[in-house]
Amino acid sequence: MPLWRYGVVGLFAAIALAQSAPPLRELAERRGILIGAAVEPNLLVEEPRYAQVLAREFSLVVAENVMKWGALQTSRGQFNFAAADLLVDFAQKHKQAIRGHTLVWHQQLPRWMYGNFSRSEMEAILAEHIRTVVGRYKGRIAYWDVVNEAIGDDARLRATPFDVLPDYLERAFRLARQADPQAKLFYNDYGAEGLGPKSEAIYNLLKSLKEKGVPIDGVGFQVHVDQGFSPQRVGMAENLERFARLGLEIHITEMDVRLVGGQPQAERLEAQARVYQEVLQVCLRQPRCKVFTLWGFTDAYSWRAASEPLIFDDRYQPKPAYFALQRTLQQP
Ligand code: XIL
Repeated sequence: MPLWRYGVVGLFAAIALAQSAPPLRELAERRGILIGAAVEPNLLVEEPRYAQVLAREFSLVVAENVMKWGALQTSRGQFNFAAADLLVDFAQKHKQAIRGHTLVWHQQLPRWMYGNFSRSEMEAILAEHIRTVVGRYKGRIAYWDVVNEAIGDDARLRATPFDVLPDYLERAFRLARQADPQAKLFYNDYGAEGLGPKSEAIYNLLKSLKEKGVPIDGVGFQVHVDQGFSPQRVGMAENLERFARLGLEIHITEMDVRLVGGQPQAERLEAQARVYQEVLQVCLRQPRCKVFTLWGFTDAYSWRAASEPLIFDDRYQPKPAYFALQRTLQQP
């Protein structure tokens, strides 16, 4: 039973313990992985605690929103890098790796992208965006989510404004490789953690890209789940293994675990901790799984704040899920 269950004294003991044990980033390093969090750069400036916990606990950062197309290129040919630059500078200062998120996605596109472009116009638009963005951070962003969520829940390719360019997917990877040959290039998606039609479709897509010689280095599994999720039940380890056999690096890219249902809060928090623990174990047991990233770190600023899905509460206190990750990283 965790110490915090013993009331206020236990809670303080647990916090003291958390703070005396090495931070997660150090424990993760010993296990050969990076532990990451999604970040909103304005909070780095506005909230000292936010910056402090992020720097202490995490060895990788990803922009929760500010490197999306709609944030970077609000009108055609005009790029705003201020917020993204802030994050990149913070990461470098604190020796954190960076995941770039994301180049090609059907969401959070600026309105101008829905103009009816010809094939050659779209070719130019895609090339300009990728060259400008990836080029700007060349050598500084270690991993790029080149394509995000291209497969729909029906296991087919989604309709996007890029479709006028039939080979947009492989083209995006080739452009990214040219712009920064050192960055590792990823396909990223949700709902593909386990075996099933969607992960099957992604597997087939990435396999065919590999066979065509498209430069793709890895696959990201988002893992937006709730406290009832079980990696065993969906066959997550087996699923990751087949992607590993394609020669791909594997990242957990956006994990959060929503609290749902009417159980007592303490039980919900324990169940949430178990889900974090089990997914981390799957990653640690898969030699090609190198990055374990959370979609934020404090419930205060989660995109799903109401369901308290992260490992620090809204006052930056570590939750049972934090201790579960800490313990799991320490198990040999
Ligand atoms: C989410 C952000 O967290 C929100 O702040 C934003 O309003 C919408 O996008 N999959 C992704 C992420 O790849 O970019 C999404 O991030 C969450 C789902």
